Order: sequence, then structure tokens, then C-alpha cells
Amino acid sequence: MANSLFRRKTIDSILTDAEKGDAEVHAHGLKRVLTVRDLTFFGIAAIIGAGSFSSLGEAVFKGGPGVVLLFVITGIACAFTALCYSEFASRIPVAGSAYTYAYASFGELFAWIIGWALIMEYSIGNIYVAFSWSDYFTSFLHKVNLHIPDYLTTSYAEAHKAVLNNSSNDELINAWNSAPMLGKLRIIFDMPALVINLLITYLVFRGIKESRNFSNVMVMLKLAIVVLVILVGGSLILSHGLTFNWTPANDEGVRSFMPNGFSGVMAAVAGVFFAYIGFDAVSVLAEESKNPQRDLPRGMIYSLVICTVVYILLSLVLTGAVHYKNFDGVGDPLAFIFEKQNLNIAWMQILVSICAVIAMTSVLLVFQMGQPRIWMSMSRDGLLPPVFQKIHHKFKTPSFATIVTGLVVGVPILFTDKTFVLDFTSIATLFAFVLVCGGVLLIPRKEKVAGRFQIPYINGQFLYPLIIAISLILFAVLSKNYFGNLFDFDFSANTEYNEGKKSFMDLATPNISVIIFWIVCFLLAVATIIKKYSLIPLMGVTTCLYLLTGMNKDNWAWFLSWLGIGLIIYFIYGYNKSKLAAKK
Ligand code: ALA
Repeated sequence: MANSLFRRKTIDSILTDAEKGDAEVHAHGLKRVLTVRDLTFFGIAAIIGAGSFSSLGEAVFKGGPGVVLLFVITGIACAFTALCYSEFASRIPVAGSAYTYAYASFGELFAWIIGWALIMEYSIGNIYVAFSWSDYFTSFLHKVNLHIPDYLTTSYAEAHKAVLNNSSNDELINAWNSAPMLGKLRIIFDMPALVINLLITYLVFRGIKESRNFSNVMVMLKLAIVVLVILVGGSLILSHGLTFNWTPANDEGVRSFMPNGFSGVMAAVAGVFFAYIGFDAVSVLAEESKNPQRDLPRGMIYSLVICTVVYILLSLVLTGAVHYKNFDGVGDPLAFIFEKQNLNIAWMQILVSICAVIAMTSVLLVFQMGQPRIWMSMSRDGLLPPVFQKIHHKFKTPSFATIVTGLVVGVPILFTDKTFVLDFTSIATLFAFVLVCGGVLLIPRKEKVAGRFQIPYINGQFLYPLIIAISLILFAVLSKNYFGNLFDFDFSANTEYNEGKKSFMDLATPNISVIIFWIVCFLLAVATIIKKYSLIPLMGVTTCLYLLTGMNKDNWAWFLSWLGIGLIIYFIYGYNKSKLAAKK
């Protein structure tokens, strides 16, 4: 049993399967049409979206201008991960993303776990984007004097929570009070979010080519407008002399770049990380790109670099334009900085709202395309029913899987709210990233093949332990009583926060996960001294694990429950139906 749980597909067999399927690829299957430019555009289309247009506001409120640091740290973690994705994508250029890579390195059980976690990245993440899309869309309609009733523009869960908490948000309270009743049930749902999901599902169902053209145009537009926000906002900050906002005073009156300390910055990790999710979506297009070995890594890294620069500049503009505390509860931060009480430019508000709607449409599109392709790979391996690989005879798209994706995104729109899906998506995606980087450590090293991407091997034997030791010393020096706090197990912090007695900055990163983090680093250092692991994937594992320490225990509880359900499904279906089981 234990052996069969870790049964692995060899890289050769994955490639042979894909080649066998190549006839299918060209006769019935996916078309090879994407170039490096398309892939970069796809990356940007997936990355810049609800994270920058929506969750950035809450992140800035938690961390202050210091959130820029978190963007840098997260950008570095994603860059290491992108290199690992690229290594895998160049060795295994077939659709399926981290799932396929795990199959080759860790074996079937982990592959299933990753495939299951990726549902959260692709489908559940899209729920957050659809909600944010709806927020900007409705606020745009308001600006042009068109109004949809409040009970049709908010989620039931959010309106209910607002009533329970006596929220001062008039729209949510009004949604609850004005909703028509069906028996005892109030009819409250986010109609624009549902409609956009329907449209996107239809577009993806119709085919890659149409979707690609649509996506390229949207990416150009959103980049242009984000750059405009940076230029207009940046020049006003300088000309109005607002740079003092970069060192705002905190509750104690102390001025600092990190007014809530580093723990305040780390509290923003789910939102910041969410903003980066997407560069990996490029890898699921392997079977549709002209030259996957060369173009996938490039597409991923180019899009990541561009977005990192954009994010750093955007956070500087936001925190320079307005005092960080004013971002409390602001869901449209990029339009907010141009409001009357702030920089006061009306046309920028409208432009940004339009841009946000466009940006988020392209994110929805890319993720909605990615999910069916992952399921298609899982189905080819026997872990999901064969119907998931069904290709539409006319449109050449995975038709059944596309419709199921539409349902997996659409149905929860009726029941969930934004905060929940944001945390859920970020924790699962980080988890998948850790496994991808770990996977690169496990696959055998290879001779360099000309024209193919390969992570440069840097021997981590002494460097890695040195980096860990220096980091520990830095933490101890830069953060007062770092080790003392680490072993201070004050579990009341969360409760007090929920009861409003403590602010989020008192919610230091959960001690247990930080302790586990350092223990894992120590074990990795010992293993590296013995096995001479390569430094880049090691740093990928380490930085992603570090970001995971920013998640709170509720996030962990939900995530582990989700994994539990996935394991039950695996043992009932995939374990027996797997192609590898049949081969025995
Ligand atoms: N990074 C994507 C976004 O921010 C998921 O919308």
C-alpha cells in the first residue's frame, strides 16, 4: 500500500503519453498556437487583477508603506518558484502544471494533493476575482448613474455578517433590509459576479484562439492604465509634497515606514500573495504553445518581473497619496486615491474603474482556462473520470471540464464571501508552490541541453546553512525579543482580535508555524550538507514556507479539512482507477 501511494510516473512516460496524445492533439485536441509573447501576456493577464485592484487596500491598511517590503519578499519567493516551475515545464512540457510535476517527483498521492489544492488556486481564487469584478463594475455603474438594487450586488454571507456585526456599511445593511423574501429566505446574491462567470465560461468553451486575442487586448489596456495611475499618482505625491505619508505616525505617535511593525506587514500576506498568483498559470498552456521548452520559462519569468515592478510602484503610490489608515475597508483603493478628499481627479476615478473591470476579466479568463486543463491531465492519469478529457469536436476545448469549472466557481458565489476565499486561495497555492520547489530538489540532475531552460546549479552545501544562520541572526537583531516572543503561546490573541479588544498588529505571526518553519530550515540545512542540494529550489521552498507562517490558524483548519475531503475522494476513486494501478 505505502509503495503504491508513492507510485510515480517517470518523466519519460509522461512525455511518451503526451507524444502518443500528440496525434490527438493535432487531430482532435488542443492547437499549438501560443508564442512567448502570448505566454507573457497570459502571465500578466493572470497576475494583475483583484489583488492589485482590490485586496491591496486592506494590505496597505495592515502593513502601512512597509507592505512594499512584503511585495519584495513575495516577489523573490515567486521568482524562485517560477524558476522551479520553469525547470519542470522545460523537462515535462505537457499540460497540468504543478500536478504533473509532482507526479514525476513525489508520486501519485502528492500529485493528487497538489491537483486538489490547485482547485483552490484556480476555481476558488476566481470566486474572489468575480466578487471584486462585481464591486468595481457596480461602482462604475453608480458613477454613470445606473443602479442595480443592493441585494443583487452583494453576497448573502457578507450582508448577513454586516447585520450580525452592526456594520456601518449602508449598502450591505440596505441589501439585507430591502431584499425580497422567498418564504423565510432573503433573496440576496451577487448578480454581476454570476453573470461574468457565465460569460467567461462561454468564452473559454468556445476556444483558445478567440480567448487569446481577447486576453491580449485586455492586458495591453490594463498595463497602460496601471502605468497611468503610477505616473499621475506619483507626480502628484511629489508635487504636493506628500512623501511624509511614507513614514506615517502609528497609534503611539511614532513615525515609521512600518507603523504596525513587521507583524503588521506579515498580517497582509494573504492579500499580497494573492496579487502574485497567476504566473504559474502559464505552465498549464504547455500543450498549446509552439515551443514550450523555450517559451514557458520565459513567459513566466518575464510576466513575474513586470508585475513585481508594477506592484512595488503601485504600493508606493498608494501609501504616498493617502495616509495608510484611510484604507480601512476600502475595496477599490486605486480609484479611492483619486477621490475628492484625496488626490481629487474625477476622470482618473472613472478610468480606473473601467480598467479594473477589464483587468479582472482577463484574470477570470486565464484561470477559467487553466482549471479544465489540469483536470484533463488528472483524468488522463485515471485519477478523475474519463469525461474530464472530452474535447469538443468543433471548438477543440475540454468542454465538460470547462462547464464543471463554471459551476465550481458559480455555485459558491451564492454562499461565500471575499475574505474567506482570499485566505483559502492563498494558503493552498503557497502549499502547492512549496511542493513544486521541493519536487525540483528530488528529480535527478541532468546534463544541460542546448535551447532548454535549466536552473543553474549552485551547491547549497555550505551556502544554505550560512543563509539560514545569517537570517536567524538578523531576525534576532532587528526584532526585539524575537526568540522570547516565539515561545510566548498566547492563544487568546485571535479571540481578543475577533472581539475587537486587540488590533491585528497584536496578532503576531502564529508562533507554532514560525517554530515549525525554523525546524524545517534546520532539517533542510542538515540534508543539504549531506546531499549538496541545489540552492535555488531550496530558497524557493524556504521563502514559500516563510510566507505560510503568516497564515492564521483558521486558515490552516479550513485548508486541512479541504485536504481531508480530497484524500477521501482519492481513496474512493483515483487510487483504484489510476492508470498506474492498472499497470501492476
Ligand atoms: N493575481 C490574481 C489577481 O490578483 C489572482 O487577481
